Amino acid sequence: MKIDLPRLLDNLNRYSEIGRVQEIGVERIALSDEDKVARDLLKNQMEAAGLEVLIDELGNMIGLRKGLEEGAPVAFGSHLDTVYKGGRFDGALGVLAGLEAIHKLNDEGITTKKPLALINFTNEEGVRFAPDMMGSHVYSGQATVEEIWQSEAYDNPKDTVKGRLEAIGYLGDMKTGSMALDSFLELHIEQGPTLETDGIDIGAVNMVQGIYWTRYTIKGQANHAGTTPIGYRKDAGYAAAQIMQFIGDYPRKADDRVLTTVGTVSFEPNAINIVPDAASFTLDLRSVNAEALKKAQKAIDAFIENLIKSSGLELEKEEMVRFTPVQFDSGIVKLVRSEAEVLGLTVREMPSGAGHDAQMMAAMCPSAMIFVPSVKGISHNVQELTLDADIENGANVLLNIVLSLASKA
Ligand code: GLV
Ligand code: MN
Ligand code: MN
Repeated sequence: MKIDLPRLLDNLNRYSEIGRVQEIGVERIALSDEDKVARDLLKNQMEAAGLEVLIDELGNMIGLRKGLEEGAPVAFGSHLDTVYKGGRFDGALGVLAGLEAIHKLNDEGITTKKPLALINFTNEEGVRFAPDMMGSHVYSGQATVEEIWQSEAYDNPKDTVKGRLEAIGYLGDMKTGSMALDSFLELHIEQGPTLETDGIDIGAVNMVQGIYWTRYTIKGQANHAGTTPIGYRKDAGYAAAQIMQFIGDYPRKADDRVLTTVGTVSFEPNAINIVPDAASFTLDLRSVNAEALKKAQKAIDAFIENLIKSSGLELEKEEMVRFTPVQFDSGIVKLVRSEAEVLGLTVREMPSGAGHDAQMMAAMCPSAMIFVPSVKGISHNVQELTLDADIENGANVLLNIVLSLASKA
């Protein structure tokens, strides 16, 4: 069976107008007013497609389609939130291709044996509230609703997850995670260059690399830039620069099995003629190898602690996220391969470099992902692009796997 590509493309275009930035980008930060607009549209579309819409205490949206039998639904979906200056496909593709699968089943008058659940998870990106993959993290029982509700926005501690859920009308009453799921499938863009480079249509994702997020704040002493001799300084900015150099060098010189990124940095008071008394920055550390991840974190922490000690500075460290690498269900990965091949597509098993809701869901039910190529491997960028033919291929694979999983007893 094949999806209706023009209908899916129209819908992707429609959502890309919600929070549009620059010519083709999207900025729809989780729990923002733009997120609410996208959620309201999805809720209306789910209802129009005959789904029963459930909203849980974390704002996860679940569209339920009855099956011939009762029981745990075959679930699929992704997220509608984006990063700052993000693209049109990261997350939205998985949700809207899922909705298209529902539309297609409606068109064909098919009722599957098992029920189906289309899910839009809250705050996958984690760019304003930690942790990332927030909705699926709690849904899969790896954190409590109460602790996550208290999470504060990085840019305004008065904004909490619970407060924003109330403000946008998505503090639902369904207990998060209370509905057991048969399985979970996520269609997503690769966000890296390998499928396009090697001319492969579909990635059958067999694992997701581990992610550690840490915030470091170095405290020194503000002082005059023109009168304070170097030996008298407690320069938090200079220390941060040395640490950032170490972090950047680590995968280049010490261990290339990890990836390190310092994506945010701020100084205080942030003035041209004042030695900074505080420097705060974040570390995003990833690896498919759990040991390499631990080893890198340890080496970076040891470097920082030595530097802090020897320069008379102080350190605050916040462990924001510690997600170890996750393996997907080999049966569903095999199904991705076989359904892609039946459709005449080329397919390759591969790990995911990015974090995804499916990696959380893997803790509660058999899960896996389908990747489609990203043009030039660009993502978390307004230029993010996936070609129409690849969108069609991915959505067709999703539809056929859903049918296959939901028709089994
Ligand atoms: C999510 O997009 C992540 O991998 O940071
Ligand atoms: Mn995503
Ligand atoms: Mn993303």
